[in-house]
Formats: sequence, structure tokens, C-alpha cells
Amino acid sequence: MLQVSSPNCRPFLKWAGGKSKLIEQYIPYFPQSFTNYYEPFLGGGAVFFYFCGIKPNVNKFISDINPELINTYCCIKNNVEPLISLLSNHQLQHNLDYYYKMRSHSQGSDIEKAARFIYLNKTCFNGLYRENSQGLFNVPMGKYKNPTICNPDLLRSVSIALQSATVSLNSYSDINADNEQDFVYFDPPYHPLSSTSNFTNYSRYIFKETEQIKLRDTFARLASRGVKVMLSNSDCAFVRELYAGFKIYEVSAARAINSKAENRCKITELLITSF
Ligand SMILES: C[S@@+](CC[C@H](N)C(=O)[O-])C[C@H]1O[C@@H](n2cnc3c(N)ncnc32)[C@H](O)[C@@H]1O
Repeated sequence: MLQVSSPNCRPFLKWAGGKSKLIEQYIPYFPQSFTNYYEPFLGGGAVFFYFCGIKPNVNKFISDINPELINTYCCIKNNVEPLISLLSNHQLQHNLDYYYKMRSHSQGSDIEKAARFIYLNKTCFNGLYRENSQGLFNVPMGKYKNPTICNPDLLRSVSIALQSATVSLNSYSDINADNEQDFVYFDPPYHPLSSTSNFTNYSRYIFKETEQIKLRDTFARLASRGVKVMLSNSDCAFVRELYAGFKIYEVSAARAINSKAENRCKITELLITSF
């Protein structure tokens, strides 16, 4: 079936570790042709949205382990207009008290939860997603003068793009790509460069060394079946050793090494491919 292209599609969330700024550097390494695209660490989905624009006819399978995130994608796919109206209402009411009131809520219908999720994402500190031990979102409000909370045109074009995608709540380990027509892009929580960096803390599911090793095993198993596999991670000896034997490329990224924007510096990250 011929799909409708979505040239204006881009991430509708701010997401820690989002790949929008790195895609230019990834382009030379993407495979030329594939029939099925899998992105099992979806987050803000920067690479997924890139392929929606340039490869509308590829089948897309996107997933993540974060239930609030996946509920939001499903609501945009299936119920975008009611979601837009709830989000416009959040936009009208936004202020400090309202933010903390919404942050303390966890009940409601799926659409109410999705609208709240986008609202908090657009107004919280740096678009972070972090939960306390009870599984409640606990990021403080960010300091934005006039945050754009509801962008109806973007949400509608995301909804169109999602019509041809299969969205599911899954761990990466459930992926069922199995041949050379399949392309899988893994963007896991990065292995930390130091014991104080907390970029791995995206959800209640923490990604420790043992998980990085299991992911490498999944990468190797898929590669051995002929699947084209690509993975991003931090540039450190541990990751280089894990993927020795595969192709390892360096890309250059601007990352905050602490919370102050002026302390952003260029560091290298790794892009690893099986092909
Ligand atoms: C680095 S972010 C992905 C960023 C994304 N590529 C983007 O452009 O915004 C990592 C994602 O992996 C998800 N995640 C963590 N553990 C997972 C697991 N075991 N299986 C699937 N997703 C997982 C997190 O919820 C988070 O959304």
C-alpha cells in the first residue's frame, strides 16, 4: 500500500538523549534499502520521524518500555482531536501552581493522561522524564517564558505518520526482526561516562552494565540473521569493547556535562553498525 509522506513530521516531545541534532551525521551510515524499520527505544522518536519523511512506504515498528510515553503515541495516533482540545486547555491554565497540581495527578482516561504527559514534558525542567520510587513523575518546573504546549499542526501530522506505524509497549528484547530486509536502530540509555552522570535515569527501568551486555547479545543475534542493526551509545572503553568486531564510528555531539547551558561542550559518541 502506498503511504502518505509526512515531510513536516518531527518529534513532538523534548526527550533526554533525543537524536534530532545528530541525524545529519547519521545519514551516511543508514542502509539504502530496507522494507521494515524497527525502533525499540523510541523516546522522542527523532530517527523514526526522519524516516517518515523520506521513506513513507517502509513498514515501521516503534516501541518503548515507558507506558506513559507509549500511551501518548497511541492517543495521538487514534484520538488526536480530543487530545488537542485537552492540551489547549492546559496551555490556557499553565502557571506554577497548575504545573505542580498536574504533576501530582496520575489518574484519568488515556487521553487525559496523554495530554498531561505532553503538558508536563513541555513545561518541566529540560524535558526530563524521571519518576520517584512510587512511579510518580517528579521533575520540577522549567524556566520557560512562553512554552509552546500545544502545536495542533504538528500533532496532526504526527497522527498521520503514525497511521502506518505499529506502536507497542515492549522491551527491546521482544523485537522480532529476522532477515536482511529489516533495519533496527537501537538508541538505549547511554552507558554513563562517569559515576555522577545520570543520563541513564529515564524511567523506573534502569539500564545497568548487565543490560548493556544483554543488548549487545541481542544486537549480535539479529546481525547473525542478516538484520541490519545500528546502535548509538556513549564513547567509552566499555562500549567499544562490547562491540569490538562490529563497525564503530565516532560522531560529534554537544552535551551538557552539568546543568548550565554555558558548560555544554563537544564530545564524541559512538554509532555502531552490523553492516
Ligand atoms: C536515549 S532514549 C531514546 C531517545 C530517542 N532516540 C529520541 O530521539 O528521542 C532511551 C529510551 O529507551 C527507553 N527504554 C529504557 N529501557 C528500555 C527497555 N528495556 N526496552 C525498551 N525501551 C527502553 C526509555 O524509556 C527511553 O525512552
